[in-house]
Amino acid sequence: MTELSLAPDAAAALLRWYVDQGLDEAIGEEAIDRFALPPPAASVAPLAAPAAMPSAPTPIRPAAPLPQRAPIPLESPQLVEDAREVARKATSVAELEAAVRAFEGCALKRTAKNTVFADGVVGAPVMIVGEAPGADEDRLGKPFVGVSGQLMDRMFDAIGMSRERDLYITNILFWRPPGNRTPTLAEQAICLAFTRRHIELAKPKLVVLAGGTAVKAVLDTTEGITRLRGKWATLRLDDGTEVPALPTFHPAYLLRTPASKRQSWWDLLSIDKKLRELGAR
Ligand code: URA
Repeated sequence: MTELSLAPDAAAALLRWYVDQGLDEAIGEEAIDRFALPPPAASVAPLAAPAAMPSAPTPIRPAAPLPQRAPIPLESPQLVEDAREVARKATSVAELEAAVRAFEGCALKRTAKNTVFADGVVGAPVMIVGEAPGADEDRLGKPFVGVSGQLMDRMFDAIGMSRERDLYITNILFWRPPGNRTPTLAEQAICLAFTRRHIELAKPKLVVLAGGTAVKAVLDTTEGITRLRGKWATLRLDDGTEVPALPTFHPAYLLRTPASKRQSWWDLLSIDKKLRELGAR
């Protein structure tokens, strides 16, 4: 392969450009020089010279064997049903985690390095549900461990709560979407089947929904985060339980828009108040 030599500045600029395009990790040890590969076989046969008209009818060729049925596409509604079925069978958080790790029906799993299930204390009074693992979470296999997670830790610390003692943290997606792309509705629906069961089994006193995507998916609404943030909703689960749920801004949004931290502080105070009303503090 031809070696490409670039000045350090140009190499850094190229890397930045790759990251901006969503190419933020190497998935193989060796780079593939696609220019050196033989050209792919033509998918359309070249035009042949016109044949002479046959004098007798050509015999019909025997039918070719039927092509094999394609595997179920990873967008099939059946996969959502499968996920629900598998999730329903889990009777503890540990069983659910094993089921999620064994589940092969979500396309995101193919590109992720790790399954990111949860962090914190099972049975904690507060369960935080975010959107999806990012690069740091994918690498370490734990939710909210990157910069936005560190901000979230500091925010809860301000009301005397920590993931070691009072919080249980997960996402609606267990696998990082490549390049942090927006997850498809099918990917969300599949993972959400597990997340709803996750909430049933973890039995938090209340749920905090971080960011618009988690709010829309978990509360099954099209209403945006700006309208819903700070307003308590009731999350009705399939086993009949109802849990108070508070939509709040995602910490990644707060990093980009620090002026919104004021509203998030009100949300933290509201969480503290609700826990006291529920006798959980
Ligand atoms: N953002 C999320 O929504 N979840 C994480 O785990 C990390 C970043």
